[in-house]
Amino acid sequence: MAMATSACQALLLFMAFAAAVLMSTASGTLQYNFYSSTCPNAEQAVRDATTMIISDDPTMGAALVRLFFHDCFVRGCDASILLDQSNSNPQPEKLAIPLRGYSAVDAIKAAVEAVCPGVVSCADILAYAARDSAMVSGGFSFPMPGGRRDGAASNLTDIFGSLPAPNMQVQALVQSFANKGLSAGDLVALSGAHSFGVTHCSFVTPRLYPAADPTLNATYAAALEQACPQGGAGGTVLNNNNFSDPNRLSNQYYRNLAAGEVLFTSDQTLTTDATTNKMAQDNAADPVGWMARFAGSMVKMGGIQVLTGHQGEIRRVCSATNSGS
Ligand code: HEM
Ligand SMILES: *[C@@H]1O[C@H](CO)[C@@H](O)[C@H](O)[C@H]1NC(C)=O
Ligand SMILES: *[C@@H]1O[C@H](CO)[C@@H](O)[C@H](O)[C@H]1NC(C)=O
Ligand SMILES: *[C@@H]1O[C@H](CO)[C@@H](O)[C@H](O)[C@H]1NC(C)=O
Repeated sequence: MAMATSACQALLLFMAFAAAVLMSTASGTLQYNFYSSTCPNAEQAVRDATTMIISDDPTMGAALVRLFFHDCFVRGCDASILLDQSNSNPQPEKLAIPLRGYSAVDAIKAAVEAVCPGVVSCADILAYAARDSAMVSGGFSFPMPGGRRDGAASNLTDIFGSLPAPNMQVQALVQSFANKGLSAGDLVALSGAHSFGVTHCSFVTPRLYPAADPTLNATYAAALEQACPQGGAGGTVLNNNNFSDPNRLSNQYYRNLAAGEVLFTSDQTLTTDATTNKMAQDNAADPVGWMARFAGSMVKMGGIQVLTGHQGEIRRVCSATNSGS
């Protein structure tokens, strides 16, 4: 059993690496082992800090993966999601959508600054921490290229039109991902992140009232109505995955999808298109294949509109630009 698992993981490492090398050749900007000469322990420091954070709070893996998605989809992977309000950024992205994990990112950044001050960008820290969350919470690892630099701007109006919404149908989701250079396969593979973490009732009640969405399994809908009563507190939190460990990143999501037991329209709609439904079925049937696809898609997402070379800066703290203004 242990041997079979490690053989799978070794294979996966190779497959993800092969996929990732192709991505980086195509974009030609980010590099593997980017900090090998400037901060050889950078990736290890992120991994150690991330592992400790998730062992203290097993829900943090999901928070870090979602932060990376929101960073990359809005203005590219430039750590704009991490900036606090300031004179030059009076309405930063983070005011628009409440996300978890900011203090975890600060702790990881502090651990990296302790080994190499001023060298590793917050955008790379988010990418490595998301990769390591998959390792801790999903049991698979893959190389993630580095070299992203941190942007100076964060503007909540950039959210609209950049991030997909949970009431979207499959065509709109495919278009939203295409706008970022990602494919339908990336959409389906990355949606597997909804196997872990938490969701507020407010995102689910539109599918329950006045009448339950008929694409929900009726038993599941009844359980959701119990957990999220009409007119109840929208802030109540549900586990994304009620059928196995909600802190486990896995292909269970695709089995839930086939059973009508997923939280959002944007999840369930993936079964309504023949192409995306086939991809979802393949991911349900082949856990290692899904891991490799998820890994490749995370690397691809991590290349969206990155700042490199002399663009941007390396922030000293992730919540503010170095000028602090
Ligand atoms: C396809 C379009 C997507 C939509 C419409 C969407 C929407 C949402 C919504 C509404 C929530 C609940 C937020 C809350 O209640 O606070 C959520 C949670 C989450 N999403 Fe997505 N998402 C999408 C894609 C992704 C992708 C690509 C990833 C990462 C690869 C991702 C990772 C997560 C995670 C991990 C959570 C749980 C966060 C936590 O525990 O704090 N999502 N998503
Ligand atoms: C944010 O974006 C809006 C819309 O593009 C723009 O009007 C506004 O000036 C921007 N804010 C900052 C501080 O750049
Ligand atoms: C809905 O889920 C319940 C409980 O898991 C299961 O017994 C039932 O067969 C499902 N119904 C459909 C239509 O899939
Ligand atoms: C989640 O699982 C628990 C225990 O199996 C069950 O009592 C609850 O109704 C489920 N909630 C939802 C929303 O499916």
